Amino acid sequence: MTFSIAIFTQRIVILGFASLALALSSVAHAARSGETLYNSYCIACHMNGVAGAPKFGNKADWQPRVEKGIDTLLKDATNGFKAMPPKGLCFDCSENELRGAIQYMIDNSSSN
Ligand code: HEC
Repeated sequence: MTFSIAIFTQRIVILGFASLALALSSVAHAARSGETLYNSYCIACHMNGVAGAPKFGNKADWQPRVEKGIDTLLKDATNGFKAMPPKGLCFDCSENELRGAIQYMIDNSSSN
């Protein structure tokens, strides 16, 4: 009797962990917004132009980049480009998430 209760409790605990793991992994895989990613990763260099990074909000910095087209920018951001590290150090970023982060910086750097 005590034995089967122990097994039962153990199963509940395992089930609890399994659903927790599932919940956590689905959070990790939900696409993050460009703004969220910018604030978590890109901001480290793109806010102040570290190592020559095009500055957030600076149209003159971004204009020549924008002219390359988003696909080229995405490729450069993914593979790394001069002092720009691959994926902007967001190694678990998907292609769409990176594209969103680039678009967010462009959208906020096109009107001054
Ligand atoms: C460690 C610093 C650093 C971080 C972090 C960083 N960047 Fe950059 N990024 C740079 C630098 C430096 C350049 C300019 C490279 C050059 O043209 O010399 C650059 C350039 C770029 C360019 C222009 C590439 C081109 O082809 O002209 C894009 C797009 C870009 N970064 C996107 C991002 C995104 C998106 C993130 C965040 C996910 C990010 N960067 C995070 C340093 C960084």
